[in-house]
Amino acid sequence: MPQDLSDRLICSKKGSCGSCAFADSTYAGTLAVKQEQVRRLLKDRVSSLENIVPCDEIFHYRNKIYIAFSSTRDGRISAGTFFRGSKRIVNTDGCLLEDGRADAVKEEVKKLIRRYRIPVYDARTSRGLLRGVLVRVGKNTGEMMVVVVVTDRMFPGKKNFIKELVRNVPDITTVLFDVNRRTDSMILDGTPTVEYGPGFIYEIICGMKFKVSASSFLQINTAQAEKLYSTAAAMSGIGKDDNVLDAYCGTGTIGITLSRYAKSVTGVEINKSAFEDAKANARGNKRDNIRFVLGDATEYMTGDGKDKDFNVIVLDPPRAGTTPAFIRACAKTGASGVVYISCEPKTLARDLELFAKEGFEAVRAIPFDMFPWTDSTECIVRLERKDGKEDEGI
Ligand SMILES: C[S@@+](CC[C@H](N)C(=O)[O-])C[C@H]1O[C@@H](n2cnc3c(N)ncnc32)[C@H](O)[C@@H]1O
Repeated sequence: MPQDLSDRLICSKKGSCGSCAFADSTYAGTLAVKQEQVRRLLKDRVSSLENIVPCDEIFHYRNKIYIAFSSTRDGRISAGTFFRGSKRIVNTDGCLLEDGRADAVKEEVKKLIRRYRIPVYDARTSRGLLRGVLVRVGKNTGEMMVVVVVTDRMFPGKKNFIKELVRNVPDITTVLFDVNRRTDSMILDGTPTVEYGPGFIYEIICGMKFKVSASSFLQINTAQAEKLYSTAAAMSGIGKDDNVLDAYCGTGTIGITLSRYAKSVTGVEINKSAFEDAKANARGNKRDNIRFVLGDATEYMTGDGKDKDFNVIVLDPPRAGTTPAFIRACAKTGASGVVYISCEPKTLARDLELFAKEGFEAVRAIPFDMFPWTDSTECIVRLERKDGKEDEGI
């Protein structure tokens, strides 16, 4: 359903939670602030900046929710999200950003902790067994994954715990356990073991079905990801003779979508789980003109990839952006166009400057509101080689 621009976020936790940056604005007001932030960062870098694309579902859009558990000094259990960068847990019952089904998981896990007397992790002492649960939801398939994050493989009553969890929250289609003894902010460590169901969920994006494992990246906002990918496809100008590089490809969502229009696509991804999902997703969607490489995008571009005949390069790096070496390597290929998808306008601005030095002009940028009410903004930028030939549109 289209968003109402006059909507506000009416949340009792504003100020104490830290997830939402715009708790007092209308949705239209948040878009104006984001547009201005992007304009300020990109004004000297891009020829044309278009209006931010609003999100149709501005509430309960998050398909991935980590619920941290902790015990208080008086033995009560607190469950919710970490306050920005701290170890303090804020109760998030009824959160307006999260998929509502996460609340049912949280309540059930709390009940089971009490019933099975499971020692809850104490972030102050690093003692305890159960740290949290990661919930992932396929918005278009209804499938739901729960990863129980623990500090030890031995979990008393595990079988019954899982049996009750899936009986009392019937939306759950798979349960995994992840042993994580780390003291940093990483939620999962290693490869979670599958305890119930297939160990992954499916999501449908742009009419194609994607397998997503616990440790693989998936855009947090499925509905807006569909708009993002369709726009990236249109901006790429890909035609049937083009060989495309999809760098930082995750589970292959963008590359597989683009492979419908291109001659060939090569996806590069560093995370093994996402790489394996990407290969399964190519097979599942019957795409035989796409292949995947496991490894670092810069190493690939400066190594095996440098002799490949890429006409179009698509990159979607994490918040840190890409590397100067990757950008220099792009200039050495025959690519006439680059599509840069970024979730951090600051590193995007930095990288566009480097692309300009290598002869690529950023001709068009479109901000996307992927994360309503938070201070994050996604952008797609189309770059063209200054002396490059025009691509044929799709
Ligand atoms: C923002 S996500 C984009 C994924 C995908 N394009 C999508 O839309 O679902 C960035 C991806 O880059 C991967 N990644 C991070 N560093 C990398 C590197 N140095 N080389 C290749 N891939 C990397 C991450 O594992 C993640 O899957």
